Amino acid sequence: MRQPETDPTAIKAAVREHYGHAIQTAGSCGPSDGDCCGSGSTSTEIALYGAETIAALPSDVVTASFGCGNSLAIAKLQPAEVVLDLGSGGGLEVLLAARQVGAAGFVYGLDMTDAMLETAQRNAEKLGARNVSFLKGDIEAIPLPDQAVDVIISNCVINLAPDKHQVLNDAFRVLRPGGRLAVSDIVFDGELHDLPVAEAELRTALSWAGCFAGALTMNQYRALLITAGFSEIELVVTQRYGANDLRAQALAAEGLLSAEVLQALDGKITSCAITARRPA
Ligand SMILES: C[S@@+](CC[C@H](N)C(=O)[O-])C[C@H]1O[C@@H](n2cnc3c(N)ncnc32)[C@H](O)[C@@H]1O
Repeated sequence: MRQPETDPTAIKAAVREHYGHAIQTAGSCGPSDGDCCGSGSTSTEIALYGAETIAALPSDVVTASFGCGNSLAIAKLQPAEVVLDLGSGGGLEVLLAARQVGAAGFVYGLDMTDAMLETAQRNAEKLGARNVSFLKGDIEAIPLPDQAVDVIISNCVINLAPDKHQVLNDAFRVLRPGGRLAVSDIVFDGELHDLPVAEAELRTALSWAGCFAGALTMNQYRALLITAGFSEIELVVTQRYGANDLRAQALAAEGLLSAEVLQALDGKITSCAITARRPA
């Protein structure tokens, strides 16, 4: 039997390679075999961000997008806020956030993949965005000082990190007291032990880079947020994935998950809007 990948260095290398490749082929692909949901299709982005927002952007800025929700809709940014986007990819949400916070605000994008950072920088130049900066680094060790930002956004990234406890601790550290976390992420609704498959077998069959294999359950997410010190925690399902979405993940398509397991998983893997606050 295959074993799930558990080595953090190997997981990060695979994720970096996957998204380095994905950004280079963005906009030219059909349905993805394992990108987080968005997979660079304009119709997906219109559904997430609205036709007017998308029409105002160059098409290659739009297709450089791999999210599973709209973290800006969750964050409700205000003028002059300082924002950090964990796993900023091609920069779409950073650039939209930069417009919302205005010239008195500032937005950092953090990513570990060079090709993503290069694309994001190019996109910022195309749009003439001056109040943004793209940082290279790991969301498990955010390269910003303590209490540096008002809001942390993130779209379909935290599930990709091997050490989510460390990500949420570090997110708490860089938020100002009273600051908020507003994240879209893939989350299991329900308990894994209720499924007719062992957790290790399930995680092996799903794709880590495709955002399903590393996903937490809602209860695990809530527990890690509480441990990190967050309050006012809410997780709201925004989309449910069906058996067909699971079959589209390369390994599941190889028949590693039985029809019974796929049926049991139908609708259990979700996109969630996750909000929490660092107490003032
Ligand atoms: C699914 S894509 C989402 C990108 C972007 N948020 C969007 O909505 O288009 C995941 C991104 O997270 C980055 N990423 C994954 N794990 C990371 C980590 N540990 N540290 C920094 N960036 C990471 C990848 O390089 C990739 O750009």
